[in-house]
Amino acid sequence: MIQYDKEYSIFKIDTPHTSYAMGIADDKYLGHVYYGRKLTDMNLGYLMRAEDHPAAPSVLPREKTGFFDCFPMEYPFGGTGDQRESCINIKTEDGQQGLELAYVSHRIYAGKEPLTGLPATWGDNCETLEITLADEVTGIRALLSYTVFTDTDAIAKSVKIVNGGNRNVYLTKVFSSSLDVEREGLEVLTLPGSWARERRLQRRRLGYGSAAAESVRGMSGHQDHPFIALLSEGCTQTEGEVYAVHFVYSGSFLAKVMEDQFGRTRMVMGIHPDSFCWKLAPGAAFQAPEAVLVYSDAGLGKMTRNFHDLYRKHLIRGYWRDKERPVLINNWEATYFDFNTEKLLSIAREASGAGIEMLVMDDGWFGHRESDNSSLGDWYVNEEKLPGGLKYLADEVNKLGMKLGIWVEPEMISEDSELYRKHPDWALRIKGRKPGQCREQYVLDLSRPEVTEYIYGRLKAILESANIEYVKWDMNRPLADVGNAVLPPEQQGEIQHRYMLAVYGMQERLTHDFPGLLLENCASGGGRFDPGMLYYSPQIWCSDDTDAIERLAVQEGTQLLYPLSSIGAHVSDCPNHITGRTVPFETRGIAALSGTFGYELDITKIPEEERKQIPSQISSYKKYNHLVRNGAYYRIASYQENHLYDCYMVVSQDGAEALLTYVQVMAEANQRSRRIRLQGLLEDALYEIEGRTYQGATLMNAGLLLERMKGDYRAKLIYIRRYTSRY
Ligand code: DGJ
Repeated sequence: MIQYDKEYSIFKIDTPHTSYAMGIADDKYLGHVYYGRKLTDMNLGYLMRAEDHPAAPSVLPREKTGFFDCFPMEYPFGGTGDQRESCINIKTEDGQQGLELAYVSHRIYAGKEPLTGLPATWGDNCETLEITLADEVTGIRALLSYTVFTDTDAIAKSVKIVNGGNRNVYLTKVFSSSLDVEREGLEVLTLPGSWARERRLQRRRLGYGSAAAESVRGMSGHQDHPFIALLSEGCTQTEGEVYAVHFVYSGSFLAKVMEDQFGRTRMVMGIHPDSFCWKLAPGAAFQAPEAVLVYSDAGLGKMTRNFHDLYRKHLIRGYWRDKERPVLINNWEATYFDFNTEKLLSIAREASGAGIEMLVMDDGWFGHRESDNSSLGDWYVNEEKLPGGLKYLADEVNKLGMKLGIWVEPEMISEDSELYRKHPDWALRIKGRKPGQCREQYVLDLSRPEVTEYIYGRLKAILESANIEYVKWDMNRPLADVGNAVLPPEQQGEIQHRYMLAVYGMQERLTHDFPGLLLENCASGGGRFDPGMLYYSPQIWCSDDTDAIERLAVQEGTQLLYPLSSIGAHVSDCPNHITGRTVPFETRGIAALSGTFGYELDITKIPEEERKQIPSQISSYKKYNHLVRNGAYYRIASYQENHLYDCYMVVSQDGAEALLTYVQVMAEANQRSRRIRLQGLLEDALYEIEGRTYQGATLMNAGLLLERMKGDYRAKLIYIRRYTSRY
């Protein structure tokens, strides 16, 4: 529910269990008042301190900049006195900066308007508050939108900037969210990483000064994640407060927290200003991407479940959203580039016999691509490798009762390609410089509509040429040499964002033109695993590191925010191609079962005793996937923290059944069993676990005993079923 109280000049936005409040001070300035547990009171304006010291500008004009520098501005503007991190700044045609945004009007309406060209949360059961602020001197208007859904504890925020003046203005910075938090001893949580080591949890004490997560790579990236959270001191999975913000965007971003001289903390999120400058002609508008805010008063676990609920119900779209996904086998780690139709069909024959439902042909089926050094852009099938083309392959795979999926990398161009020989200027490049290669490839300049049109046209033709039911959309290098010969000098700062809009535009068309298609995004593993991409594809490849043990950490960081149904996870061959580690096949299967589940190995070559386990792994997938997809997720223990074991569970929304995953990474000596305290069960219910019954409250408070297994890297799946509702 959203309310405006005229008497107190207070806006209050309620989700089922939280409130977010703003107030108007000095009849002009929109201040942030509160975000936390639900409040019923509207008398909240005193929290902005605008009436006491330092007094508001109308009372004490001689201290106006001092007021700006400590007022909890809801959408802080730069250049006029607030010296903390601002959300917006501009450059005028006179080359000058500075804004002063004042409250003009607001409206509250049922529903939510889509963000043109951008991914965003959606739904019918929601309400939106739109507040208009304006700068008298330039005519710039900022329209702040806040949407709340009746069934989710999250707030979706976005900002639209309109040039209401009569001269061009250049937006040099436009963030999507700011939140001032007044609390001592805050810690910061971010998700840094690297290729094959994505989204590791990093926590540190904040103190005076700032901390950030950021990308200027033109992609959200492996190295930082567009997420930042402030935690109360010592916050755990079950206790403590969390203020979190996640960005529904896949390009360069800045997430920053900053504690100021008064011990108050500001947390901002938006497009990275370093690579951004957008021209706004008179009357023109710029829509900044959406940011979502979650508050939890019961630790990180509750934050996680709020994000999962929001994304499952109000971000992911399309035919596959709530459905069990086909068990796939991908040939990347099986063959790399060395395959042909016969090899693929031999994998498919064996796979279909084992119960696998889809063959995914990875990189190397087009142009003359025998390695990663050529042919990107030449989206024509290589008939030497695949005689009869995609049609023949799809038909043969379909005859085996399987679906066919393919890999593409539409955003790239190889120097050794027909496309590059014809259009060298289609690669992003800075005037006078030869662009630098990465994986021997360049980035296509998708900010140019003719490039996008061509690439999308090829993609569409390929998908229409055969029965292709799945696409893995890969992106294997960051943007660099960002420039082109088309946009005028004053608009070169728009290229990165235009690029992102073009990627979104192509994926929107794809999902529209092929509504039954299962799209999986990917970027050298999980380099663009973000809420923006999740809007277009219900699943994203999580990491190129398929080692089940390494994967525990990658999956933990990913599960912190994303529903398990969206996390691509495969069983691969051992010794693992990246780490060289050998892990029992059963453990590899159990680790992958908490994601979308599939295989990435040469099924014709793995040992017979492993191949024999595949049908039972698939039947576990069929048996438990409804819980993995829809259940509430609880993180019980983290191998990243304890270095010994990992444990998490999913509980059906009605508490009637649950699945516990336990991975004993190291077999400790002289340790017979471990007591594990479960979560999320019904206190009074009686549960059955492996033939014994336990009370829910006992399992959650006293725990379950898990026997030590023989050897390292052992895993166990434990199914928990409600026996009776009352003990
Ligand atoms: C990177 C992906 O993450 C891999 O799974 C694979 O598709 C390769 N690219 C292919 O080039």
